[in-house]
Amino acid sequence: MSMLTASAPGKVILFGEHAVVYGRPAIVCAISRRVRVTAELAGDGVVVEQRGVRQRLRLGGEGKPRGRFRYVAAAVEEAFREAGRRTGVRLSIRSELPEAAGLGSSAAVSVATLLAVLRLLGAEVSPGRLAELGHRVELRVQGAASPTDTAISAHGGMLYIHGGGYERLTPPELRLVVGDTRVKRRTADLVARVRSLHRRHERVVESLLDAIGAVTLAARGEVERHSARRLGELMNINHHLLEALGVSTPELNRLVHAARAAGAEGAKLTGAGGGGCMVALAQERHGEVLEALSSSCSAFSVEVSAEGAVIEG
Ligand code: MEV
Repeated sequence: MSMLTASAPGKVILFGEHAVVYGRPAIVCAISRRVRVTAELAGDGVVVEQRGVRQRLRLGGEGKPRGRFRYVAAAVEEAFREAGRRTGVRLSIRSELPEAAGLGSSAAVSVATLLAVLRLLGAEVSPGRLAELGHRVELRVQGAASPTDTAISAHGGMLYIHGGGYERLTPPELRLVVGDTRVKRRTADLVARVRSLHRRHERVVESLLDAIGAVTLAARGEVERHSARRLGELMNINHHLLEALGVSTPELNRLVHAARAAGAEGAKLTGAGGGGCMVALAQERHGEVLEALSSSCSAFSVEVSAEGAVIEG
């Protein structure tokens, strides 16, 4: 095939962000917003285009890839290494996910690029291998990263991340509303902020991470029991533990409280924090929560998506 499109979903972390970087568990689900990467065999070199910006990528350099398309560059290199050969390729990216907002746009771009380039080169790749390669891309670009975002983007559905691996969970019907502060931030900076707090107050931060781990473990039981009220309570506790780790902001707190006041069963920041998005569980009063958040930020409903990374069409 000389041209194809791969797509991969974004995600919301329901429990355990940051703590998962320190080996505690996390619960994450894929959402119904995706990144699509169209790959076409073309001449020499690698050219990428997104929303009218076109760039020829310089591959094979030492150190971290930089610039706007750094995840794409690292993913193309990883795909060439995996396939054992390279080719000239033109990539075109379309995304339904806000960038640098905690919804896994970097992981979805990495995973969709990997799948598109590998399949263009005629290589088969399983979701498990795609998750591994995606994690390598994130480690290379970001430094510290857990496998959470790339695993969910490769597999879809809902995952319980733990012990360096992950297990599939059967998601209950979750009615979620996401609120985006539109404050952009880099995951690597927030991970570094927690790292620095950990260095200065190791025992205190370890106990906060343990508490987040306990919340996530309890949430796993509630996912199996389908208890929205108890899941919501655990989301609220998780939010305040993240606040204690220093990754919330006044704006995220305001949106979290607005969602709860409008009847959400629970609400918390999602992803790295420092801006970006919050997520509310709004089973009973979905419309009211969406309306309350829409009046003060960019808000939208999301569904859990069973579909991971796929070749479209
Ligand atoms: C980012 O979506 C989630 C963090 O836990 C970082 C990671 O898991 O790599 C903050």
